[in-house]
Amino acid sequence: MESVRLIELPQIHDPRGDLTFIEGERNIPFLIRRVYYLYNVPVDAERGGHAHKNLKQVIFALSGSFRIKLNDGRKIEEYWLRDPKIGLFIDRLVWREIDCFSQGAVCMVIASEFYDEEDYFRTYDDFLKAKADLKNDSLS
Ligand code: TYD
Repeated sequence: MESVRLIELPQIHDPRGDLTFIEGERNIPFLIRRVYYLYNVPVDAERGGHAHKNLKQVIFALSGSFRIKLNDGRKIEEYWLRDPKIGLFIDRLVWREIDCFSQGAVCMVIASEFYDEEDYFRTYDDFLKAKADLKNDSLS
């Protein structure tokens, strides 16, 4: 899937503990406008269940692990995140669902835009319609 890829951040090893850093527009491919994180997630919870019109994100498992299921309207893919230095870049217009959270998992999301409910496709049908409209526009 072209709109999704793993990003490996630098890791500074030290007997006192490892250190990883994030720099907007350097190792994250956009200007960072927002950071949020999910925690205290019940192991049977499902998060996500939406796509975005413009928002780009990179998702990290800072602690524990979880699964991210992706659908760009043509292909489906899934990733398991469990390494705090490996993030998953998700471009605009990708439907995502996040589940299988381990006990104590922390999911950190680096985002390219401020929070805006208008940027969400909250139903899969709306998302598919938008993808179809874009395809028709590019063909006409
Ligand atoms: P939502 O994006 O649906 O969560 P997830 O994709 O992780 O399941 O957001 C859940 C609620 O939190 C929703 O009411 C919007 C609110 N919210 C904010 O106010 N600011 C934010 O930055 C985010 C991500 C969500």
